[in-house]
Amino acid sequence: MGENSGTGFVAGLEDVVAAETRLSSVDGEAGELTIAGFPVEELAGRASFEEVLYLLWNDELPDAGRIEDFRKELAGRRGVSLATFELLRAVAAEKVPVMDALRMAAGTVRTGGDDEEAMALVAGLPTIVAAYWRMLGGEEPVAPESGLGHAANYLYMLTGEVPSVEFVRALETYLGAVSDHGMNASTFVARTIVSTRSDFVSAVAGAIGALKGPLHGGAPGPALEVVFEIGEAGRAEEVLREKLGRGERLMGFGHRIYRVRDPRADVLANAAERLYTTDGDKELYGLALEVEKTALRLLEEHKPGRNLQTNVEFYTALLLHGLRLPAELFTPTFALGRVAGWTAHCFEQRALDRLIRPQSEYVGEKDKRWAPLEER
Ligand code: ACO
Repeated sequence: MGENSGTGFVAGLEDVVAAETRLSSVDGEAGELTIAGFPVEELAGRASFEEVLYLLWNDELPDAGRIEDFRKELAGRRGVSLATFELLRAVAAEKVPVMDALRMAAGTVRTGGDDEEAMALVAGLPTIVAAYWRMLGGEEPVAPESGLGHAANYLYMLTGEVPSVEFVRALETYLGAVSDHGMNASTFVARTIVSTRSDFVSAVAGAIGALKGPLHGGAPGPALEVVFEIGEAGRAEEVLREKLGRGERLMGFGHRIYRVRDPRADVLANAAERLYTTDGDKELYGLALEVEKTALRLLEEHKPGRNLQTNVEFYTALLLHGLRLPAELFTPTFALGRVAGWTAHCFEQRALDRLIRPQSEYVGEKDKRWAPLEER
């Protein structure tokens, strides 16, 4: 099966342009991410989640009046149906992993028009994740608090406590930084589903399934596990060498597009540093920095010239751990940020209304003759 064969097949669709978009641009050589016109460094950390969402959906920042209405409208959709809760309770009894429960529960959001569905999905996903997490722990869900912003309310529904300003800021930085990222695998899935004139609920449920994979959004948990496994800076080289020797990939490093450091890693590193210096496990933070340094050195040895760099997942793990989120919630929390981009892409794809239907290159045999069962 040939990569770049005569028919134009490229394994992994690398460099294939599958859409025109106004939503985000990833320049892997320069290490630049633009979200609806704004460099990620300019937007993440300043904008609330609601502002980023509004920007992605409307291609402009809202003014004070509009954002207030938008915030209220979104907050008004946080409740989820009884059917969703019943499903969550049933799967919690089976200890189904959070991303699987999220995928199933997202599918229970009622269909009925793109605008409705987009609002219900973005507003409802945090309620699903928080309620499910509490059910898994044998606790009752905490009802959403409409007076709190989107990010603050998520932390509130998880813990039952109103989070500090620092925590909210750190989470908003994260959600904004990961809100959209070009034609990544889950976004492509969402656009493909909508291109069949299917609904946004199906698109987001499919995208959640794609995000779960360890080569996409499933890396931050394992990235943090490695830091814990190493335990002290002196062991970093030994443990990482062993992993590379066994042919394992170091989670949190490397990227399909970036050939320099992922700009989101910088944004999240700054946010993590702020968080850990004000309120956090400084020792763990110091250890993580050592692990990163050692990993980069060993990856350069392992794949010279490939320039494998720290990706967004490494600092996601640190930041979300600093927010006291358990590793099981890292990828689900990623989904809560990325659903802004997924739904925005769904709107773009809907406006384009063109079925995504690529070709494949047949490499099997032809003209075989049917043999009856007794002759095989
Ligand atoms: N550790 C060790 N080796 C690596 C790593 C890594 N983290 N990343 C790439 N390599 C190796 C590959 O195995 C490959 O080796 P080979 O040529 O001997 O097969 C070589 O470097 C080149 O790989 P790429 O072409 O750069 O990798 P690809 O584009 O297929 O994959 C990916 C990118 C999936 C992110 C990869 O770097 C990886 O698996 N990283 C670890 C998982 C991870 O952090 N995922 C999160 C990505 S960020 C996101 O999705 C939001």
